[in-house]
Amino acid sequence: MKSLYLRIMAPNSARRLACTTFTGTALLTALILCGCGGGSTGSPSSPSGPSNPSTPTTTLRQLASPHDILIGAAADSQYLSESNYANVLGTEFSQLQAENEMKFGLIHPQQGTYDFSGGDALVSFAQAHNMMVRGHTLVWHEEVPDWVTNGGFAATDLSNILQDHINTVMGHYAGKVYAWDVVNEAFQDDGTMRDTIWYDQPGIGFAGQGPKYIEQALQWAHAADPAAKLFYNDYNDETVNAKSDAIYAMAQDFKSHGVPLDGIGFQTHVDLSFDNPTTLASYASNLQRFADLGLDVHITELDIRLSDDSTASLNAEAKLYGELMTMCVQQPRCKVFQTWGFTDKYSWIPGTFPGWGWALPFDDNYQKKPAYTAISNALSQ
Ligand code: G3I
Repeated sequence: MKSLYLRIMAPNSARRLACTTFTGTALLTALILCGCGGGSTGSPSSPSGPSNPSTPTTTLRQLASPHDILIGAAADSQYLSESNYANVLGTEFSQLQAENEMKFGLIHPQQGTYDFSGGDALVSFAQAHNMMVRGHTLVWHEEVPDWVTNGGFAATDLSNILQDHINTVMGHYAGKVYAWDVVNEAFQDDGTMRDTIWYDQPGIGFAGQGPKYIEQALQWAHAADPAAKLFYNDYNDETVNAKSDAIYAMAQDFKSHGVPLDGIGFQTHVDLSFDNPTTLASYASNLQRFADLGLDVHITELDIRLSDDSTASLNAEAKLYGELMTMCVQQPRCKVFQTWGFTDKYSWIPGTFPGWGWALPFDDNYQKKPAYTAISNALSQ
C-alpha cells in the first residue's frame, strides 16, 4: 500500500520539485502560484482556513510527510458541508477514517441492505483532498444491528452473515480504503476474550477457542481485498499490560503461521494521568515489541480529555500530545497518528464522560490549540 500512498502524494512532490527551479521575483511568483509551503491540496495555510498568527503555518500533514507518518482524523460526513470543518480536515490531515459510518449497524442496517452513502461521501472527500482512507470496523460487539442481534441465528448462519458483510463492504471499498480495523475490542482488560455475538454468543463457530474467530475474520478480509492492510484495534492496549500481552501472544501466533495480520491499532483514549515517564516508556516498549514481529503500529483514536479548559490544562494536554507525537516519530513502524475527530466541537467525550472535554487539537471554533502547536513542534524536531 506504500506504493498507493506514493502515487497519491507524487503530484505534490513534483510540484515542490518544480518550485525549486525559480529564482528572484520569479521565485516569489512561483511560490504563490505553486503553493510551495502549502499542502497536497493547494495552500493549506491560505487565508481561507482558520489561522492563528502565533501558531505554525505549515500543516501537520506536510510536516509528517518526511517521517512517513499519516496524520489522521476520524470524521463524519454530516459535517463536510461546514466550511471550517472541511477546510481544516482537508488541509491539515493526510488520512481520514469514518468515526461511525462504516460500522456494521450503519452500513448494513437490514439483512441484504447496505447503505454506503456516508462512507462514500467520506471517501470522495478524501480523494478530492489527496487523503488516505482507513476503514473502521468490520467485527465489533457494538453497533450490531437489531436484525443480527434479534435474528435468532445459529453459529453457521452468523458465520455466513459475517463473511458476506466483510466481502461486501471490503469489496465496495477495494482500492479506496487502504487499511481496515478488521476486528475491534475483542479482548477484555484482563486479557481474556470478550463475550460477544461474534465470539461465543453464539459466535461464528469458534466459541471457546480464543482468538481463532479473529483469525477467521482476517482470512475472510484478506480474501475480500488482498491489497488491504489488516489490523486488530483496541483500547487500553497502549502500555505493556494483561490486555496487550494477550494481543501480543495472538499476534505472535498469527505471524508464526501466516495469518494475514499487518498491524495493531492502539486507540489511545487517555487523560492527563497518562503523562508520566513510566507509562510513556511502557507505551514505547510495547510498540517496539509489536514492531519486532514485523507489524505496523497505528495510533488510531487519540484524544486527551480534560476536566477544564484552563491554560494549565491546555498546556498539559499539549505536552502529552507532543510526547506521543515524538514517540511515533521515533518508532519507524508507527505509520499513523490519528485523533478521534479533530475539533472539540464534535467529540464523543462530553457525551460519554460528562464534565470532560477539550480533548482534541482544534477548539470548537476551529482554532489551533496548544496541542496543535506541540504536535507541530514534535514533527519539526
Ligand atoms: O446517528 C444517530 C442519530 O440518528 C440519532 O438521532 C442519535 C441519537 O442518540 O444517535 C446517532 O447515533 C450515534 C452515533 O454515535 C452517531 O453520532 C449513536 O447513538 C452513538 O452511540 C454513536 O456513538 C459512537 C460510538 O463509537 C458507538 O458507535 C461515537 O460517535 C464514536 O465516537 C464511538 O467511537 C468508538 C470507536 O468506534 C471504537 N473505539 C472507541 C470509540 C469511542 O467510544
